[in-house]
Amino acid sequence: MLKRKDDNGGLVVVLVLFVVVFGIQTCFSQNISRASFPKGFVFGTASSAFQYEGAVKVDGRGPSVWDIFSHTFGKIADFSNADVAVDQYHRFAEDIQLMKDMGVDSYRFSIAWSRIFPNGSGEINQAGVDHYNNLINALLAQGIEPYVTLYHWDLPQALVDKYNGWLDRRIIKDFANYAETCFQKFGDRVKHWITFNEPHTFTVQGYDVGLQAPGRCSILLRSFCRAGNSATEPYIVGHNALLSHATAADIYRKKYKANQHGSVGIAYDVIWFVPASNSTEDIEATQRAQDFQLGWFLDPVMFGDYPSSMRSRVGNRLPRFTKFEASLLKGSLDFVGINHYTTFYAQHNATNIIGVLLNDSIADSGAITLPFKGGKTIGDRANSIWLYIVPSGMRSLMNYIKHKYGNPTVIITENGMDDPNSPFISIKDALKDVKRVKYHHDYLANLLASIKEDGCNVKGYFVWSLLDNWEWAAGYSSRFGLYFVDYKDKLKRYPKDSVQWFKNFLTK
Ligand SMILES: *[C@@H]1O[C@H](CO)[C@@H](O)[C@H](O)[C@H]1NC(C)=O
Ligand SMILES: *[C@@H]1O[C@H](CO)[C@@H](O)[C@H](O)[C@H]1NC(C)=O
Ligand SMILES: *[C@@H]1O[C@H](CO)[C@@H](O)[C@H](O)[C@H]1NC(C)=O
Ligand SMILES: *[C@@H]1O[C@H](CO)[C@@H](O)[C@H](O)[C@H]1NC(C)=O
Ligand SMILES: *[C@@H]1O[C@H](CO)[C@@H](O)[C@H](O)[C@H]1NC(C)=O
Repeated sequence: MLKRKDDNGGLVVVLVLFVVVFGIQTCFSQNISRASFPKGFVFGTASSAFQYEGAVKVDGRGPSVWDIFSHTFGKIADFSNADVAVDQYHRFAEDIQLMKDMGVDSYRFSIAWSRIFPNGSGEINQAGVDHYNNLINALLAQGIEPYVTLYHWDLPQALVDKYNGWLDRRIIKDFANYAETCFQKFGDRVKHWITFNEPHTFTVQGYDVGLQAPGRCSILLRSFCRAGNSATEPYIVGHNALLSHATAADIYRKKYKANQHGSVGIAYDVIWFVPASNSTEDIEATQRAQDFQLGWFLDPVMFGDYPSSMRSRVGNRLPRFTKFEASLLKGSLDFVGINHYTTFYAQHNATNIIGVLLNDSIADSGAITLPFKGGKTIGDRANSIWLYIVPSGMRSLMNYIKHKYGNPTVIITENGMDDPNSPFISIKDALKDVKRVKYHHDYLANLLASIKEDGCNVKGYFVWSLLDNWEWAAGYSSRFGLYFVDYKDKLKRYPKDSVQWFKNFLTK
């Protein structure tokens, strides 16, 4: 190609070509598989009872707050409910076969509290216990390890009727009793317990902005929710959830761990925040945003108290832990579950608008977090309005946890992306989920780098989600599954291309 020695233009072309080709090769050489991860690293898929099971009136199940909320007009984007969902209550054997085909090691699912205790407390519903025994046994028969979430947002409505649910301290005893019942009934076979899924999400969405069950809030001049106080209730709810976790974990350690040898964690929702600018104000606001998200629920179980930024900003609206409670909380986690999807910019609140309109935990944080800046988004968007694709956030987050919390054991309890449920896309096209394959590849590559290059102590990775399912207030409008579910034809399951990708990934 280089015809004349003095043809510098040609040399540049060759060099550029070389860089491009070399660049592509290094890119492909980054292709990763199970074998790239440490021995014993666990791969699985995740789900939750209310989003999957359906069968809401079957075998004595009691109603939960989400049954009420999803049947309240105007709360769900597509006016759907989860009465049938993807019917996993009846189809779990088929779904376990799908997991087996993919080659995953484990399945994360949740137990519906109101199947075990239809009234939240009182008598045990044996049919509910039987169902989860059947599910657990069917998983183990295929060599798939159950990871069990005790609370994935479906609070028994009876406890709301009785004493306002999470707003009352009586819930601590009832949750502990429910948790202990599960340890007793299933703990001989379940070795990984997650007491709470995303305590921050259900606290803020349910009692601050009111977009999820039970839909309480006082923001936006109280025009939006029938009842609630966004300045106080999220902190009370969060406090009672933390104490419920600590009480259940204490029971497990004292009465079950010696025989059952399991571990107990919480699954935290964590958006990674990057400062919108390098100003000191924005950098400090970024830390506060993280304090009011992860710190709110992780600091108490690591250090025995809320982050100092929360204590000083929320003042006497933030409940305090007694010495006994602080000691019960501190060290009550065996692993930190992380549900990570996206990254946002954070900036200091420079106006008083959010203070006046909100008067809630977001206003208290003094930070505004957004997925865009100056009209440009932080990454490519998935379907959900909050889900922007920023793979490097995974690595940054793992390093943050390592440094801030002393490199605890971490399990990625959720990671994934959704496509729209479009009536204009054929099934054939919907199965070509190139974007999802790239998403998982890129997030896994960053996770791997955090382990191999940065020494982060990560032990597992669960894809959200095995199947398309009922995505809370978004209803069926969002498809997070590796498997496509045909809602128009008997809920038939079809593997998307990502299933084949994971299959390859897991066999190498
Ligand atoms: C990685 O390798 C597998 C198996 O060869 C292939 O199917 C997949 O497309 C590759 N992925 C990427 C992102 O390079
Ligand atoms: C639940 O409460 C209702 C109403 O108080 C009662 O009739 C029912 O027997 C209770 N069910 C169980 C399983 O405790
Ligand atoms: C915010 O709510 C708290 C608790 O209800 C109340 O005491 C306070 O006056 C409110 N602040 C504003 C600015 O409305
Ligand atoms: C902040 O500084 C870092 C390091 O110098 C730089 O990489 C980054 O782009 C800067 N961020 C912004 C928003 O200017
Ligand atoms: C936002 O900033 C303004 C100006 O600094 C301040 O008066 C206001 O209290 C702040 N609001 C919140 C919610 O932090």
